[in-house]
Amino acid sequence: PKQQTLAIIKPDSMDEHREEILGEIRAGGFSISRLKETVLSRDTAEEFYREHRDKPFFSQLVDFMCSGPCMLLVLTKENAVEEWRSMMGPTDPGLAQVTAPGSLRARFALDILHNSLHGSSNQEHAKEKIHFLFGDIITSDRDLTS
Ligand code: CMP
Repeated sequence: PKQQTLAIIKPDSMDEHREEILGEIRAGGFSISRLKETVLSRDTAEEFYREHRDKPFFSQLVDFMCSGPCMLLVLTKENAVEEWRSMMGPTDPGLAQVTAPGSLRARFALDILHNSLHGSSNQEHAKEKIHFLFGDIITSDRDLTS
């Protein structure tokens, strides 16, 4: 069965790498079922990352995510959550370059904070975050970009 995950192209990758990332997403067999370019408010970024609120990097993370436009995407594919995480590679691009050199973070991310992309860590988070950012239940798996 098809699954959906939430992906975000973060502000550090929007100017230079967005088109290439969207191309890789399509080439990877994902349908882009929702797509929204937006500058996140502080409230939205804080709520979105609330699981990380006690981490030492939380305020830097929120600052970064609000620093410019992001692209929010709902990706649909079989096993989409795991497939997208594997395509992104590890959170830290230094590690990604060693363990997953072809991954998107290995290729495009700057450092562990400015790491180019986000992806939901499991199906429950995917549902919750899609609902939070898009405000409805996603039923279409039509590809908006084809
Ligand atoms: P993401 O997968 O969106 O989930 C949480 C984000 O916090 C992560 O990507 C990075 O942007 C950031 N992050 C995770 N670990 C660290 C860290 N050790 N230092 C700074 N930022 C981090």
